[in-house]
Amino acid sequence: MKIVKTINEVRKQVKEWKSLGQSVGMVPTMGYLHEGHKSLMDCARKENDKVVVSIFVNPMQFGPTEDLAEYPRDLEHDAEICESAGVDLIFHPEPEEMYADDFCSFVDMDTLTEGLCGRTRPVHFRGVCTVVTKLFNIVTPDRAYFGQKDGQQLAVIRRMVRDLNMDIQIVGCPIVREEDGLAKSSRNTYLSPEERKAALILNQAVRLGAEMAETEKDAAKVVLAMKEKIQSEPLARIDYVEAVDALSMQPVERLTGGCMLAMAVYIGKTRLIDNVLV
Ligand code: PAJ
Repeated sequence: MKIVKTINEVRKQVKEWKSLGQSVGMVPTMGYLHEGHKSLMDCARKENDKVVVSIFVNPMQFGPTEDLAEYPRDLEHDAEICESAGVDLIFHPEPEEMYADDFCSFVDMDTLTEGLCGRTRPVHFRGVCTVVTKLFNIVTPDRAYFGQKDGQQLAVIRRMVRDLNMDIQIVGCPIVREEDGLAKSSRNTYLSPEERKAALILNQAVRLGAEMAETEKDAAKVVLAMKEKIQSEPLARIDYVEAVDALSMQPVERLTGGCMLAMAVYIGKTRLIDNVLV
């Protein structure tokens, strides 16, 4: 497994693979890798001749009051996980390699990015779309793997690829959870032991929503029950709980399939997300 820091090194390697007719799968990440990321690599490993993982904490997708400086990093451990997943190449650029001082081109999306996480994090998806476009242009993968954990991000990337005719297959992978149900996340490391327990309320609310949705098709009733569940936890503060169409991210009134029950909840200062498809 190679670890490279420059765009030129990635291009050279990928060109060589492609000249041999080999397919390339890519997993974009911000590092501090866990089983959730690994599941994407495993999927990519099965479906492609070569696998590239990018590890880049993208400053552009963090708002001015967000956790860019504190975002956890551990390249050595990340490299071990990638190695164990059979990854061929890690692309780990410095911010200067990705963004020139006078950088001023962006990929912006309307509609899908306006609700849910986009409401609380107004610059987030512009940063995500811009960096993922850049990573796609650098690596030129045949397939790219994203987790359902970030359900809105997955929908946004699918739409971007469709709208801008990017010749890349986007593969969505299921949410990987801790044994007690908490969705794995690099941000879970911010939680104190007490908060870690309280964070279980997200998965409990998601499960409640999924169970209810089997018979109750009124989205407002299901969302209300989920909110009440979350409010029963004193350390939890709701950012949003919503029922949306899983492709368009627009609110739905009826849960008649193809919907996502999504939430963002603060546990102390840490903002966690979770969702389920119904
Ligand atoms: P990051 O948060 O590191 O996540 C990288 C990928 O791993 C995303 O596709 C995310 O959905 C997936 N992932 C994270 N936790 C998961 C879990 N518990 N189960 C399944 N998949 C999980 O998402 C980003 O980075 C960035 O926004 C990025 C796309 C790399 C652009 O900077």
